[in-house]
Amino acid sequence: MVAEPIVTDLPAGAPPVCLADFAERARAVLPEQVWDYVAGGSGGEVTLTANRRALDRVGVLPRVLRGVEVPDLTTPLLGRRYAMPVGVAPIAYQRLVHPDGELALAAAAGAAGVPYVASTLGSVPIEEVAASGAEVWFQLYWLRDRELVRDLLARVRGAGCRALVVTVDVPVLGRRFRDLRNAFRLPPGVTAANLPNGRHDLAHGGTPGVSPVPARSGADFAPALRWADLAWLREHIDLPLVVKGVLDPRDARDAVRAGADAVVVSNHGGRQFDGAPASVTMLPEVVEAVGDRCEVFLDSGVRSGTDVLRALALGATGVLVGRPLIWALAVGGRPGAETALDLLAGELRDALALAGCADAAAARELRTVPVG
Ligand code: FNR
Ligand code: LAC
Repeated sequence: MVAEPIVTDLPAGAPPVCLADFAERARAVLPEQVWDYVAGGSGGEVTLTANRRALDRVGVLPRVLRGVEVPDLTTPLLGRRYAMPVGVAPIAYQRLVHPDGELALAAAAGAAGVPYVASTLGSVPIEEVAASGAEVWFQLYWLRDRELVRDLLARVRGAGCRALVVTVDVPVLGRRFRDLRNAFRLPPGVTAANLPNGRHDLAHGGTPGVSPVPARSGADFAPALRWADLAWLREHIDLPLVVKGVLDPRDARDAVRAGADAVVVSNHGGRQFDGAPASVTMLPEVVEAVGDRCEVFLDSGVRSGTDVLRALALGATGVLVGRPLIWALAVGGRPGAETALDLLAGELRDALALAGCADAAAARELRTVPVG
């Protein structure tokens, strides 16, 4: 019997061996403006670049002769067990890169046994994403209109989402020079499907020097949030609450005080405040401040199993991965994203074995030293 190929939707050619291989292929198939929107950061992209540099500088001291045969990747996150300490980061408008968009990436996450964080700015309604079989966490952008926030929360509960992730690093959208130069706008078929005004809105307009995507966020998002608002949210939803976009340990402490069950140490993949340090640079201080009281996730620049191990060794509970999975979705739809998640799991299994760790908990006992 001839084995069926696992991947049916990937272009012919050598199979990808690491997540970076998807980026190269995605660049070849995506319109340049879409590539720029996803790949780019804000300002001079200093923070974007710092994320990778800082991760590469984290040396992990492997342990030997620990009797580990096959490491166990399964990990509890927010009270449920997942296949590995990795979640799919919330990414807006996934139908920009593939017609199946959120449905395909969520289905891939479901098959891989990892949580899928659905963005407020999803291009498929949350109810449909939740029906894909994945464990869905909903990412909330706080809207100016509190009634709309209430409606969204009711839909999130109704759809069976497992957690609420509130993103707090977007009081305004970062200035993304690539999008401004491209006057990047959403094509007519891609809309903010969770929002009532998602279809005929600012995001589709176009004036040179103006990027319609931030124009819509500016119009809809509430900029002047306070910790008291978070406490309001805590009272209005009985789901684990995650605060995404924290770098200062003082903010992490405030998040815990306001009732957060987890924080995501994140600079939004270098897309918001250009001038912020790499997320991983701040991870140890945040773990020190709140690691005994809440879960601590890392995102921004995670590209391999080794990066996941680095985060665990620095005390993280888990990581979120953004762009690489969007590249995989772009080139191969659901099978492409499944391949990328399989590769990541395989890399993490090897990294744990090479470092002498039986599981993620053992990885948190590893020591790190700066490299280079
Ligand atoms: C994002 N990110 C994001 N975050 C969020 O909370 N809500 C959102 O809608 C989006 N949208 C979004 C779109 C695109 C195209 C990108 C690249 C990123 C940020 C995202 O969740 C995450 O913090 C970073 O992408 C993590 O960095 P890496 O893994 O992409 O380097
Ligand atoms: C972005 C927003 C939408 O980073 O989160 O593009």
